[in-house]
Amino acid sequence: MPGIVIVGSQWGDEGKGKATDQLGDRVDYTVRYSGGNNAGHTLVVNGERYALHLLPSGILNPHSTPVIGNGVVIDLDVLFEEVDGLTARGVDTTKLLVSANAHIITEYHRVLDRVTERFLGSRRIGTTGRGIGPAYSDKINRLGIRVQDLFDPSILRQKVEAALDQKNQLLVKVYNRRAIDPNEVIDNLLGHAERLRPHVADVPLVLNRALDADQVVLFEGAQAHHLDVDHGTYPYVTSSNPIAAGACIGAGVGPTRIDRVIGIAKAYTTRVGEGPFPTELLDDDGEKLRTDGHEFGTTTGRKRRCGWFDAPVVEVAARINGFTDIFLTKLDILSGWKTIPVCVGYEVNGVRVDRVPLTQTDFHHAVPVYEYLDGWAEDISGAREFSDLPKTCQAYVRRLEELVGVRISGIGVGPSREQVVMLHDLI
Ligand code: IMP
Repeated sequence: MPGIVIVGSQWGDEGKGKATDQLGDRVDYTVRYSGGNNAGHTLVVNGERYALHLLPSGILNPHSTPVIGNGVVIDLDVLFEEVDGLTARGVDTTKLLVSANAHIITEYHRVLDRVTERFLGSRRIGTTGRGIGPAYSDKINRLGIRVQDLFDPSILRQKVEAALDQKNQLLVKVYNRRAIDPNEVIDNLLGHAERLRPHVADVPLVLNRALDADQVVLFEGAQAHHLDVDHGTYPYVTSSNPIAAGACIGAGVGPTRIDRVIGIAKAYTTRVGEGPFPTELLDDDGEKLRTDGHEFGTTTGRKRRCGWFDAPVVEVAARINGFTDIFLTKLDILSGWKTIPVCVGYEVNGVRVDRVPLTQTDFHHAVPVYEYLDGWAEDISGAREFSDLPKTCQAYVRRLEELVGVRISGIGVGPSREQVVMLHDLI
């Protein structure tokens, strides 16, 4: 004990790395349990900016062991590119552990992601194009390639050929693309095998032993609640389970091993890709949030859609994930607004509702009902205590807490590790 899960409460990019950072040296293991290199963590450590997509952000912490669990889909080209980039900057990556059961993203997954999106046209999901969905589809279809397959070349060949038999038909006959040569895929994967071998571990065994020994295991969510394939705004979601329960499946620990679930909520809301977003601002206010908050994707560089804080969106995440705490990020970005609208419910077909509607159709048509809170003019980036924040800023935080029903334990007031106001310890 303890096992701590950090999970985004909106549509991703909440700044989860910031909360991870606060746990600092006390974390023994930092585990990615879902998603792949569709994620993007931007971290500023000692004035240096790091953008990570696949590796757990704990890789930057010399005291913790970074782990990639079975629930992650791994693009090995990206993995080693990231490892090389960090090594060149003096970061030790040798302790990285990778589950033998994690699935691999191959060239055909990347190609299929892009062509299916193009084929969908106006019905596209707006994926990151990294092959995530096709790799998870293969996993569920039992056509996937796992890390362990790299160490048995004849099995690997059988599996790649089986997968491509079907996919090449699709690529050539439906999408009018060239067929992919299985030999190229196999050579690429085998080319990574020996480098990967020393990192491959029995991750559930390692993590359960660590928890038995009272070490701190941090399960670091990627994406967020509303991008969860079961609980998010389906079909505008990713293809895995970023929610807290996903940590058990994607890392191999039982639900009884999770002691704390920290929901990360941005002080406003952003989303990339398609899908419903009731508080989205399509005007100058949205543009201002985007500019002030530097809301451009770490992974794809796409402009993030921006809008006001949506309390029911975070409240449903709190319920389904069982948040024990909320870490509020980017509060400093809201400085300078005279009033700040907060969504407290919706009107759906003329009827007022307080919670996220049951059906996707209603959510698409939900018109936000706002409460207007007083803003603050002061720059809060130097605040370190709650009492350093202007009174109206404190009131904003307290109102969000009340609306969501979970205590706010930490507040981000700037990009660097030190720019936080802590109200309760996260361990
Ligand atoms: P995919 O995960 O690439 O299949 O994309 C599915 C949806 O999830 C798209 O709307 C993406 O923009 C979104 N998405 C995936 N990863 C992230 C993330 O780390 N932050 C925000 N949105 C993401």
